[in-house]
Amino acid sequence: MKMSRRIENLPPYLFVEISRKIAEKKARGEEVISFAIGDPDIPTPPHIIDKLCQAAQDPANHRYPESEGLPELRKAIAEWYKKRFDVPLDADKEVLPLVGSKEGVAHIAWCFIDPGDIALVPDPAYPVYSVGTMLAGGEPYYMPLVAENDFLPNLDTIPAHVLEKAKLLWINYPNNPTGAVADIDFFDRVVKFAQQHNLAVCHDAPYSEVAFDGYQPVSFMQAEGAKEVGIEFHSLSKSYNMTGWRIGMVVGNAEMINALKTFKSNLDSGIPQAIQYAAIEALTGPQDCIQEHNAIYQRRRDLIVDMLDSVGLEAKPPKASLYIWAKVPQGYTSAEFTNELLEKVGVVVTPGTGYGSSGEGYIRVSLTIPDAGLVKGLSRLAGWRSTKKIAW
Ligand SMILES: Cc1ncc(COP(=O)(O)O)c(C=O)c1O
Repeated sequence: MKMSRRIENLPPYLFVEISRKIAEKKARGEEVISFAIGDPDIPTPPHIIDKLCQAAQDPANHRYPESEGLPELRKAIAEWYKKRFDVPLDADKEVLPLVGSKEGVAHIAWCFIDPGDIALVPDPAYPVYSVGTMLAGGEPYYMPLVAENDFLPNLDTIPAHVLEKAKLLWINYPNNPTGAVADIDFFDRVVKFAQQHNLAVCHDAPYSEVAFDGYQPVSFMQAEGAKEVGIEFHSLSKSYNMTGWRIGMVVGNAEMINALKTFKSNLDSGIPQAIQYAAIEALTGPQDCIQEHNAIYQRRRDLIVDMLDSVGLEAKPPKASLYIWAKVPQGYTSAEFTNELLEKVGVVVTPGTGYGSSGEGYIRVSLTIPDAGLVKGLSRLAGWRSTKKIAW
């Protein structure tokens, strides 16, 4: 059988490879502790599940959903944006529910990118920005995110010949994998840059509700003129521990939303309605769960950063997101260090290079690990270090 070049040229999805390695170790009877994937271990809050069960009993929800989502859900999303960010949205034209935000993030390229076009993509980044671009026949241009620039892209260094072919600009704050955050001044600069170079901006913001020490991330939509140039992807996955239910949304520029709606209406048949009702409950019901989850993540963040620090791995405590971006010890590449941890102590972290070449020299450590595993994983790391003779 001969597959398309599109499929043959795709690198394996980062976490598929990691899951394969973990499965191999487990098959050999070894216990593996994973700090790799950003999948909340805390269950979905009970009031959301109750609504889901109730809605699943209703035969009206057993039929095909509309691909643009229930009007009540679009309204709940618009109201949530108004309440959380003071951003007004037209629920019919500027809001579109998604089958998890990954789906929309991957598909938006098909609405903007023709073969030969360029999308400006951060490096390191969530891999779907570049993969979506490539699947649509386009080419990613990588914008390095480095510590010296607070992991923000330096837009002024993008060459003119790249900008001529560029259609989309991807940004993501709070950032995966670096844990960096952006302020409204940065988003204002992005709007101006997009206006100057006729770019459509896609801001990916699934971690805006996962924040620590009282910090409140801002929305790209709060920047003056953002709605004229861009959209923001968001998700219920991380805010409400709903990764398994697959529901997210995109808001902002009506023309961009309409293009994605047209594309999706030919491709998927919407989100199961019981899940849409659960999402309405999440967005409009009690919000205490967010603070409760963040308190748990914050405690884990502090434990992990202290531990990394005590073994000589440099890591700043992130203000938001589910990730710690730590420097690997001298003498190792990201991949070597990751393999060494897996092979020697059965601890899984993600190599920085899995998110792009500028991730070299780093590992990503996720906060979504239950306490028992966390303590065991950290003590294994400490034990391994004490047997090493190299300088950290
Ligand atoms: C930066 C970023 N964007 C989007 C997603 C996708 O989230 P979901 O499809 O669960 O909404 C993730 C998931 O980890 C992510 O890290």
